[in-house]
Amino acid sequence: MILVTGGCGYIGSHTVVCLLEAGYEVIIIDNLVNSTEVVLTKIKKITGKEVVFYKEDVCNKQALRAIFTKHKIDAVLHFAGLKAVGESCAKPLLYYANNLNATMILLEVMQEMNCYQLIFSSSATVYGEPQQLPLSETHVIAPTNPYGSSKAMQEQILLDMGASNALWKIALLRYFNPIGAHQSGLIGEAPSGIPNNLMPYVTQVAVGKLAKLSIFGNDYQTLDGTGVRDYIHVMDLAQGHLAALDKLPKQSQATRAYNLGTGYGYSVLQVINFFTQETSIEIPYQVVDRRDGDVASCYCDAQRAKNELNWQAKYKMLDMIKDSWRWQSLNPDGYSCSKQNVHTRFKSINID
Ligand code: WQD
Repeated sequence: MILVTGGCGYIGSHTVVCLLEAGYEVIIIDNLVNSTEVVLTKIKKITGKEVVFYKEDVCNKQALRAIFTKHKIDAVLHFAGLKAVGESCAKPLLYYANNLNATMILLEVMQEMNCYQLIFSSSATVYGEPQQLPLSETHVIAPTNPYGSSKAMQEQILLDMGASNALWKIALLRYFNPIGAHQSGLIGEAPSGIPNNLMPYVTQVAVGKLAKLSIFGNDYQTLDGTGVRDYIHVMDLAQGHLAALDKLPKQSQATRAYNLGTGYGYSVLQVINFFTQETSIEIPYQVVDRRDGDVASCYCDAQRAKNELNWQAKYKMLDMIKDSWRWQSLNPDGYSCSKQNVHTRFKSINID
């Protein structure tokens, strides 16, 4: 069985769909702070399969122990964690306490239960300001915000765990910019409140929930002055996790980092123009000041994942836009308006 922490979240839920369709049995643990159990009914609708779900916090050691005692867990995909860059700058302690404690408690229980295979949800944010592009896994780790620092610290903990016991097999997956949604339109990115990220903001303008997009600066040293990023389809990202899971027992290093990106960068204006090309919907915008902490360009060298995981992104920008728009247009209010009655079989775990 595969334990997925944060499996009701955006990337977690898409990865659970791919795991189920690949024949894995899945357990989700999620405290639903940034997600909803409605996702479980959608996963069932897409795959026809049930997952075992525990509404618990990964920091709850007793609950985690009980889950590992009740189920034979072969590997863990660890998505659970706080992930808003801006919020992390305002509340650094919350990010360090929550994200690091969750990972350390998870590692303690895994070790107690002789489970040594872990895939960690990391981020390109660990690189900070790119010193050279494209970004390879050997680029210096120099995060510039507490969210990125919390990811870099967790990576260090995982490197040290791997060095301490040869039984560990750990993959650190550094995501670039995940966008898009499952082709069914049943699951997708559902940020609470005003979206921080570009694509959900664009789709909410397109669907009429927001008036216009603010472009954070057009004076960067890029082809059109706006920020350039490596956008990757969330389904490609999900498949990257399955490729890493498959490789894990054969991984020669105890802990190994992989970039998960396309290797191509697109600017904000290019994304907007592609959006209009795909949907025939104009996106009104205004150019405003740069956002603190933003870098001009960020895109990856994806060669290591191709060579070692036999994985590469296959969806193009227009696919990502088409799938993002289908999700948003079918679900203008994300999961909150889902009419479906949630008769999810919550498993409550007896903490003796
Ligand atoms: C993309 C581009 C903005 C919004 C962040 C996190 C990263 C990961 C993905 C967690 C930039 C511009 C955006 C808007 C804009 N999250 N933009 N107006 O900042 O590259 O990465 O999300 O793992 O860790 O750092 O993504 O989508 O916020 O921005 O002009 O309203 O769009 O300036 O150039 P980012 P983003």
